[in-house]
Amino acid sequence: MQNGSVVSAGHRIDEAIVDVEVYADKARYHQLFAQLRQDDPVRWTEPSQYRPFWAVTKHADIAEVQKQPAIFLNGPRTSLNTIEAEEKIFAATGRRQAQRSIISTDGAEHAGLRQITQSWFLPNSVRKLEEDIGKLARELIDEMAERGDTCDFVDDIAAYFPLRVILLILGLGGDKAAEATILRLSKEMNGSLDKEHQRSKSQGEHMLQVVQEIFEFFKPVVANRREHPQNDLASIIANGKIGDQPLPDLTVFSYYLTVAVAGHDTTSASMAGGLLALLENPEQLAKLRENPNLMQPTVTEMVRWTHPVKHFFRTAAQDYELRGRKIREGDSLLMCYPSACRDEEVFADPFAFRVDRNPNAHVGFGIGPHVCLGQYLAKVEMSAFFKEFLARVSHVELAGEPVESQTLFMGGLKRLPIRYSMRQS
Ligand code: HEM
Repeated sequence: MQNGSVVSAGHRIDEAIVDVEVYADKARYHQLFAQLRQDDPVRWTEPSQYRPFWAVTKHADIAEVQKQPAIFLNGPRTSLNTIEAEEKIFAATGRRQAQRSIISTDGAEHAGLRQITQSWFLPNSVRKLEEDIGKLARELIDEMAERGDTCDFVDDIAAYFPLRVILLILGLGGDKAAEATILRLSKEMNGSLDKEHQRSKSQGEHMLQVVQEIFEFFKPVVANRREHPQNDLASIIANGKIGDQPLPDLTVFSYYLTVAVAGHDTTSASMAGGLLALLENPEQLAKLRENPNLMQPTVTEMVRWTHPVKHFFRTAAQDYELRGRKIREGDSLLMCYPSACRDEEVFADPFAFRVDRNPNAHVGFGIGPHVCLGQYLAKVEMSAFFKEFLARVSHVELAGEPVESQTLFMGGLKRLPIRYSMRQS
């Protein structure tokens, strides 16, 4: 780590913690968090445009918080929205978030919501999808071959693969219109601070519009699956109950939104950032090519390396002391997953990308009762894709500058131009 800190470069730390420009520059970003882990690991943060919070940057502290869900609640504050956005959303909906996703629920409601879909994401169920997932991977590599020798790996390949998998599970597989709509809306959903995707300078207005459009998109799907239930995830959610109570429509639409958006943007970000890591570390790529058995640790390392989810909040339900800091009831805590994924106390040489890293207990998928429901699916998808990719692409290199998205919440690379040659069959 260099000494020229983000602070001396003209930023106050509090502003840097919520600055998309810092997040879009991995070196600055990791420098900031390394400094926080060392000097102020549970930092009271008061950025000008956001309600204050504790920034929690150590792996052990995130685990301590998230493993105590009765003390640290997921609601009502879920993700970083500006005060302007929170007020606009509250005025329009009476809630702090435009949607009511499983991630913002607690206790019995959370357990009930998780139970509705859980069995679809267990290893046994995902294993049944392996053939379909492998087929989708082959089709995308076919598309790469048809394109010639260059593509943008994010826009042309990575964005489509997890999206097609999740649409298949939802029961909307092969629906090209659905694919295009969800792709556009999820870019907008996670790009509320990215000028390329912003609909309005007001983050609140942007979020309200995008969430409403996603709900509108799913309306006919919900109506159809209530009338004609099928063996798909869309039917399970549309007809889901907690106890004997059907889920309210808002919860149903929000569930679709979480599965569709969280299930695809994260995985494609890991794939693209993972490929870039292999290109930047050719000895690791060579090692993986020589030892296909390393695919499991490789995809786990790709998620640690890319940490596509930048944060979630927890809210203290009581006073609590964390690493000597006095957290007050009602305070919110920002779980800085990318920082924990580079924690020197947990990972040997944390800034090295290693395809054989073991152990690798990272928190890129979270930890505790809200731990990512789709983590097994994500790893199966990534393994299937890279297996096919390495088997058929004999050479791959960068063909331009990679570009990171501007997001404080979820995402990774938005452009990764590559040049490649296919193995002659
Ligand atoms: C590399 C890909 C992925 C990453 C990095 C990721 C990351 C995360 C994280 C950090 C959380 C919050 C965990 C916590 O609070 O402890 C989460 C929750 C969740 N993820 Fe993922 N995720 C990925 C892929 C997926 C996929 C493929 C799906 C399935 C469609 C999915 C569905 C969910 C759901 C439904 C939750 C909410 C769980 C709950 O609140 O109980 N995710 N994910």
